[in-house]
Amino acid sequence: MSKKPVRVAVTGAAGQIGYALLFRIASGEMLGKDQPVILQLLEIPDEKAQNALKGVIMELEDCAFPLLAGIEAHSDPMTAFKDTDYALLVGSRPRGPGMERSELLAINGAIFTAQGKALNAVASRNVKVLVVGNPANTNAYIAMKSAPDLPAKNFTAMLRLDHNRAASQIAAKTGKAVADIEKLAVWGNHSPTMYADYRFATIGGQSVKAMINDETWNRETFLPTVGKRGAAIIAARGLSSAASAANAAIDHMRDWALGTNGKWVTMGIPSGGEYGIPKEIMFGYPVTCANGEYKIVEGLEIDAFSQECIKKTLDELLGEQDGVKHLV
Ligand code: NAD
Ligand code: LMR
Repeated sequence: MSKKPVRVAVTGAAGQIGYALLFRIASGEMLGKDQPVILQLLEIPDEKAQNALKGVIMELEDCAFPLLAGIEAHSDPMTAFKDTDYALLVGSRPRGPGMERSELLAINGAIFTAQGKALNAVASRNVKVLVVGNPANTNAYIAMKSAPDLPAKNFTAMLRLDHNRAASQIAAKTGKAVADIEKLAVWGNHSPTMYADYRFATIGGQSVKAMINDETWNRETFLPTVGKRGAAIIAARGLSSAASAANAAIDHMRDWALGTNGKWVTMGIPSGGEYGIPKEIMFGYPVTCANGEYKIVEGLEIDAFSQECIKKTLDELLGEQDGVKHLV
């Protein structure tokens, strides 16, 4: 017997990430090839955006996806999030060349207050929320704080793009397959301060750190390359990453919903105090997922350099959080 459709809300549905994301959700890449979905798509009321959304919907229809059980277009989060089981909050302004993501807080922060409140009012009580819009960690924090009737653990921020970027750089450096990399972690903020940490990583059971054996490469090449990859893409494309961001969003939600079979992935989640991070800070942690729940990988040794990196990214998040006090 076929499964009951689940409701998936996507904001910014007519934007560039939306265009790379919706077709993959509708084809079953996010929630499984046996899971029908109803797409609840939100765009700003502006006529141009709503028209663009209509065009995207026509294309979705023309794909005749067997798993696509319904498509709705919305201009109000209160209707877009009604009973939604999954919410991918993408809609917001991307940065342009020369900007830092934190500069978007003033522009984008308020979006997440309104959307957090709407999720609080009308979404499924088990809704799984992923914030993609930048600065993703602090926007997710704002949404979480604006939804006091939903469990805080339902709100997450996207660090998966950093995780995937780190894995790809390691695969290139070691000449090994990206699929064979285990136990990679990215700590902290989705910003150049994030700390991609391969000290525990293995490939075929062998230590990646020992394989690379080059701390200068780690500090002077790997960390800046991963940390500044978003800016490098903006400089090259004139637009921020879209297909890789959509891919990371699919990975994040799929792993959260369907499990990781013990494999570590990175998610931005509200801290419960783990590794000395103050409670509620939306922090990138290594996690495993099973039965629709994520679990932080605990007990990892944090050496002096890692402590320094984690403090830097935490301090930045504390600063961002302080800057949005008026919104929460
Ligand atoms: P885009 O400008 O192409 O599309 C954004 C869309 O959101 C637009 O269609 C716009 O009309 C819509 N929108 C704006 N405000 C909205 C609101 N309040 N409700 C609903 N829709 C709204 O931008 P994009 O390239 O798709 O990027 C979207 C966001 O994702 C940006 O903030 C970008 O920085 C961020 N991003 C995050 C990551 C990550 O790893 N976390 C990666 C890439 C991009
Ligand atoms: C990215 O990392 O590619 C996105 O967050 C977009 C950006 O502004 O860097």
